[in-house]
Amino acid sequence: MKILTTRLNAASEEFLLRKRRTLSLLKELRSHLFTATQGGPEQAREKHLVRGKLLVRDRINLLLDANTPFLELSPLAAFGQYEDQFPSAGIVTGIGLIHGKEVMIVANDATVKGGTYIRETIKKHLRAQQIALQNRLACVYLVDSGGVFLPNQAEVFPDRDDFGRIFYNQARLSAESIPQVSVVMGSCTAGGAYVPAMSDETIIVRDQGTIFLGGPPLVKAATGEEVTAEELGGGMVHAGISGVADHLADNDQDALQKCRDIFETIQVQDRQPLERTAVKDPLYDIEELYGLIPETLKAPIDIREIIARLVDGSEFSEFKENYGTSLVTGFARIMGYPVGIIGNNGILFSESSLKGTHFIELCNHRGFPIVFLQNISGFMVGKKYEHGGIAKDGAKMVHAVSNTRVPRFTIIIGGSFGAGNYAMSGRAYDPHLLFMWPNAKISVMGGEQAADVLAAIKEEQLQAAGKALTGKERDHIRRPILEKYEKEGSAYYSTSRLWDDGIIDPADTRRILALSISMSLNRKFTQPRSGIYRM
Ligand code: COA
Repeated sequence: MKILTTRLNAASEEFLLRKRRTLSLLKELRSHLFTATQGGPEQAREKHLVRGKLLVRDRINLLLDANTPFLELSPLAAFGQYEDQFPSAGIVTGIGLIHGKEVMIVANDATVKGGTYIRETIKKHLRAQQIALQNRLACVYLVDSGGVFLPNQAEVFPDRDDFGRIFYNQARLSAESIPQVSVVMGSCTAGGAYVPAMSDETIIVRDQGTIFLGGPPLVKAATGEEVTAEELGGGMVHAGISGVADHLADNDQDALQKCRDIFETIQVQDRQPLERTAVKDPLYDIEELYGLIPETLKAPIDIREIIARLVDGSEFSEFKENYGTSLVTGFARIMGYPVGIIGNNGILFSESSLKGTHFIELCNHRGFPIVFLQNISGFMVGKKYEHGGIAKDGAKMVHAVSNTRVPRFTIIIGGSFGAGNYAMSGRAYDPHLLFMWPNAKISVMGGEQAADVLAAIKEEQLQAAGKALTGKERDHIRRPILEKYEKEGSAYYSTSRLWDDGIIDPADTRRILALSISMSLNRKFTQPRSGIYRM
């Protein structure tokens, strides 16, 4: 395979400036991650520990195989919302190993408002289940939750993708023989009671876990019956009387060990074979990525320089190198796994879309996972391009992306705008995982373009009435739009709302992609198929 060369000068002023800026973005990211992963307020954590319970991330550590990675998803969910009272949206999700098997963990953080569910908590829980379904990952639910966050019930209860969807998903996952295991380590109230009840196998911690449809106050109000939480739905009740739980554990540690034991009886079915070779480091230092990220999205990123730092031996077998050059396509390996890579090197034209479509079909038929490196301002506009049929060529790529049978992983390394987001496997196209670099931006179009469009519309309206727009009025229309797009386009705004699976350090991209590919092999690829391409 051809080895990519580099033109990067790591001693140049530009490199050092860009590196400094990326490092400052990373400092900010790490600080936000540190705060979020502490969980709820100190008082709540103290109360939790005094009860003899482990904190949520310690539970996960104990559950997973020692010294193996945990790919945590969306740790900054709900960031910057709800006055930051819901760090990580009160729930930890991610992929880890139990007895060498990749599993999806969904764990409530009871130190965050009693582990209750706001909109982002539900989105995160459902997203974890969707990933589990797409990749055939067994699910472990570490339950410690007061159910719905009652003041926000309208945002979490009634709709299709609301609280009830959690239990629907459990039934569907179970029916696909994807194991559902619950460990009840605290409260499990009302709808939440269905998490263990819907599971294939359930463990409950004695004198700590409770499961009931209505807690003691509700029972008293409804029937006048006075009963303690333990008598109503404690470990002894469910493991001994009701049969809602199958195993009684003495404490958190015992419960987590029992959960690990269950996984000794769970077999991984039918992994997709994918020939893996010995891992070779890239020829160039991965941290040089920091010096490749420009300060503004207006400056281009040379995608081959990025690829050279992500793939084994910096080896890249490029496809159609001289055609449709604003899209770079080719085969490589990431930590020994073969992949197809599709990266933007400018705006999308008809030729680049056709090339992308062709390359996606190659990956589909050869059975290669695809990595999308997204940095796209959109499709080319203008009369020449419309006449050339750019809409139908772009549509071909969107068709191909939508119907891939191989796993797709999207990394937004720069901008993600307009229909470029669609063709490059944006969130709506169900990539198996989607991550953003901290410099990334996402919106329907750039702020300046949106501001210009709105000002132009106003101008036309006024012209029709025989009036004109003054410079001041124009500025008045543009400024708030620019400010709004700046705020809403940021990676933090996106990750807070689960438009992605997390913001990552660019230097972790290679490792995360390798873990992601390995995870995706738990489900066999289906047969290639495609829709009707408009010719
Ligand atoms: N909705 C909104 N807020 C809730 C809540 C709920 N369902 N359950 C708990 N909270 C809040 C509390 O108001 C408190 O907030 P604060 O820190 O701002 O004061 C925080 O979560 C912690 O609750 P607290 O009761 O002090 O903690 P705990 O660990 O002793 O008990 C629960 C946690 C979940 C067992 C208990 O709060 C409870 O039983 N909640 C009601 C559960 C319920 O009936 N849910 C039905 C939903 S369908």
